[in-house]
Amino acid sequence: MEKTQKNATVKFFSGKEIPLEMHKVRIVQSIKLVPIERRLEAIREAGYNSFLLGTKDIFLDMLTDSGTNAMSDAQLSKMFIADDAYAGSQSYVRFEKSVSDVLGKNLILPVHQGRAAENIISQIFVKKGSVVPMNYHFTTTLAHIQLNGGKVVELYTPEAMKIKSSHPFKGNIDIKRLEELIVSTGPENVPFIRMEASTNLIGGQPFSMDNLNDVRRIADKYKIITVLDASLIGENAYFIKKREAGYEEKTIGYILKEMCSLSDIVYFSGRKVSSSRGGAICTNSKDLYNKMKDLVPLYEGFLTYGGISIREIEAMAVGLYETMEEDVVGQSPSFINYAVQELDKLDIPVIMPGGALGCHVEAQKFIPQVPQSEYPAGALVAAFYIISGCRGMERGTISSIRDENGNDILADLELMRLAFPRRVFTLSQVDYLIDRLNWLYQNRELVGGLRFVEEPPVLRFFTGRLEPVSNWPEKLIAKFKADFGDSL
Ligand code: F0G
Repeated sequence: MEKTQKNATVKFFSGKEIPLEMHKVRIVQSIKLVPIERRLEAIREAGYNSFLLGTKDIFLDMLTDSGTNAMSDAQLSKMFIADDAYAGSQSYVRFEKSVSDVLGKNLILPVHQGRAAENIISQIFVKKGSVVPMNYHFTTTLAHIQLNGGKVVELYTPEAMKIKSSHPFKGNIDIKRLEELIVSTGPENVPFIRMEASTNLIGGQPFSMDNLNDVRRIADKYKIITVLDASLIGENAYFIKKREAGYEEKTIGYILKEMCSLSDIVYFSGRKVSSSRGGAICTNSKDLYNKMKDLVPLYEGFLTYGGISIREIEAMAVGLYETMEEDVVGQSPSFINYAVQELDKLDIPVIMPGGALGCHVEAQKFIPQVPQSEYPAGALVAAFYIISGCRGMERGTISSIRDENGNDILADLELMRLAFPRRVFTLSQVDYLIDRLNWLYQNRELVGGLRFVEEPPVLRFFTGRLEPVSNWPEKLIAKFKADFGDSL
């Protein structure tokens, strides 16, 4: 076999280990770093919520990898031969073949994005009183299950909440607690068990194949179906190959198929997994397919486009095939690993081991002076934007909800997520990020908290507006200017 360097971390003569890009950049978009005064104005206008910033004020957009991964030349070229038709599009036929080849599922319901799949799955399977066990929730998943009267129970292992850990599979579900929950709730009240690949909100941490096999065993024992959120399945498969005994020699394609074969329903956000836009619900069970099928034309569009542009369906089909390439699914984890190692050397609290999706900075350790009631993760995102122009995302109590008495349900982890969309940033940009995070860490005592001034009742993190509890942003800027002078 030809020896190639896969998603390489090559040894440099200097002794340093640096991840090497296995692609070249052929289409570029220019970005700007606006002056720090403008950045303060911009975050004020945005109500200290990074979702409300405009990209004209952003240098590195690390909000998310959703719909922002770099697309390949093969994807772009296929978009030009899209077969636009309301029904029976041949682009859709190509998409079905791709899902079948890559994920091994033959019955497919297209939806416009991941949460649309969650809407349909929750409406069909979740009832008042339902209990849905999972390794961890995602924001939109939780909202849809609750909207249908269900309750989510997260059964992560104690390792999942350790910031610094060497556990390879912090996304595992606790099998013993899973079985106990099913027994105490009654299997008839558990519509499905949900596993999320590369568990997003706990730092993009994967689960092992061994764990997924255990879930299958429990599900079969109690006759419950399993649902796999495959939005980040490529990276999870990559970690199984890298970290799980017995999978070193398996291809990513083989691992993807095995993961899906253990799951009754597989759904995904095409914005993530296939570096495009769109989504789908996939199964091999005619019965499950028939239960869900009628909601697709009702909420999404006809069964051969599901509310997705046909061009994007072509891009999804190609993107799914590319998910089988180690160079593609390993790119963001290897850059994240580089950043995490460097940040750890600087003592900056960052989730370890590095996972998928992004680098996750732990805000309560970073700025311990900010109490959880003043949203440390949100404050850190705002402060980091002001001093660097990089946009991260709050994944802490602002992304949580209030209880029936109106009190914040404090998040398990207060994280600033800095997403690494696939193949978008260069290593010098990652070095800039590390340098500015280091400066902020050295000046961390200057960062204060936030409070809500406008708070929507559902998914408040998207559009809620906040303000600083003191004039800490001005003090932060004064120190920045003292250290950097006129530098941006
Ligand atoms: N499931 C997971 C694990 C996700 O990460 C997301 C989206 C969804 C479902 C919903 O998919 O956005 O296409 O409707 N995650 C994005 C993020 C928004 O930034 O992490 P969607």
